[in-house]
Amino acid sequence: MNPASIAPVLSVRQAEKRFGAVQALNGVSLEAFGSEVLALLGDNGAGKSTLVKCISGVYALDAGEILLDGAAVPIHSPAAARRAGIETVYQDLALFDNLTASQNFYCGREIAFPAWLPRGLRFLSGRTMDREAAAILERLRVKLPNLDAPVALMSGGQRQAIAVARASVFARKVVILDEPTAALGVRESRKVLDLIAQLRTEGSSVILITHNIEHVVELADRAIVLRQGRKVGELKPDRTNQKELVALIVGAEA
Ligand SMILES: Nc1ncnc2c1ncn2[C@@H]1O[C@H](COP(=O)(O)OP(=O)(O)OP(=O)(O)O)[C@@H](O)[C@H]1O
Ligand SMILES: [Mg+2]
Repeated sequence: MNPASIAPVLSVRQAEKRFGAVQALNGVSLEAFGSEVLALLGDNGAGKSTLVKCISGVYALDAGEILLDGAAVPIHSPAAARRAGIETVYQDLALFDNLTASQNFYCGREIAFPAWLPRGLRFLSGRTMDREAAAILERLRVKLPNLDAPVALMSGGQRQAIAVARASVFARKVVILDEPTAALGVRESRKVLDLIAQLRTEGSSVILITHNIEHVVELADRAIVLRQGRKVGELKPDRTNQKELVALIVGAEA
C-alpha cells in the first residue's frame, strides 16, 4: 500500500507535549495514508495514547502541527476532530450500556426528518436508524445475534465490533483504535482484526495501537515505534524483522 505518489491523509509534524516534568511527546512526526493500517507501538508510557489524544482533540499540542489532506487544521476539541473526519475508539469504548447497537451507532448523530425543518423540530426516525445500522454492520460483516438488545448484554468482542464499526462509518479520513483487542479472547480478537482489514479494503486510514506483535505482523502495513516520547523507528513489519521490532519497543539492541 501507500505508494509514494499518494499524498498522506494525516500528517503530524514535530509534535511536542509536556505534562509537568514529563516530555510525553518530543518532536514526533508521522504520516498516515488511505487504505493502510499503521501500527503505533511502544512500551507503557512511550507516548502513544498522548499522541492519539492530541490527534483526536483531547489534548492540545504544545508545539507542532496536524495536517489533514495537506492542510493544517486546528483540532481544539474531540468534536472538532470528528468534524474534521477523525474518529477514535478508546480502550474503554464509551458505548451506552442500556442502548441498542443501532441507538449507540447514531447517538449524538440521530437521523431526523424532514430535513427542511430546523434541527430541534424534526422527528427522529428510529426505524431508519435501525435499518441503516443493520445495513452498515452487514456490509462490515459484523454479526450480532440481536440488534434490538442493549449492548450491555453483548460480549466484549461484539461491543468492540460495534464501536469500531461506528467509528469507521463516521470517520471520513482517519480511524484511530487504541488497543482494540486488549480485553478480548482469541476468537473475538479475530473478528475485530477482520473488521480492521475490511476497513482498509474500503479505503480507510487506520491507526492501530497494540501491544500484540503478532497482530502487528499480520495486519499492519507500516509500524512506527515510540520510546520516551520520541519516534525511534519506522518499518514494514513482517516475520523477518519481528525481533528488531520488539528490540525497538523495549530499547534493546537488535
Ligand atoms: N494527563 C496526564 N498528566 C500527566 N502525565 C501524563 C498524562 N497523560 C500521560 N502522561 C504521561 O505521559 C507519558 C506518556 O503516556 P501515554 O499514556 O501517552 O503512554 P502510552 O504509550 O499510551 O502507554 P501505555 O502503553 O501504558 O498505554 C507517561 O509518562 C504518562 O505518565
Ligand atoms: Mg496508552
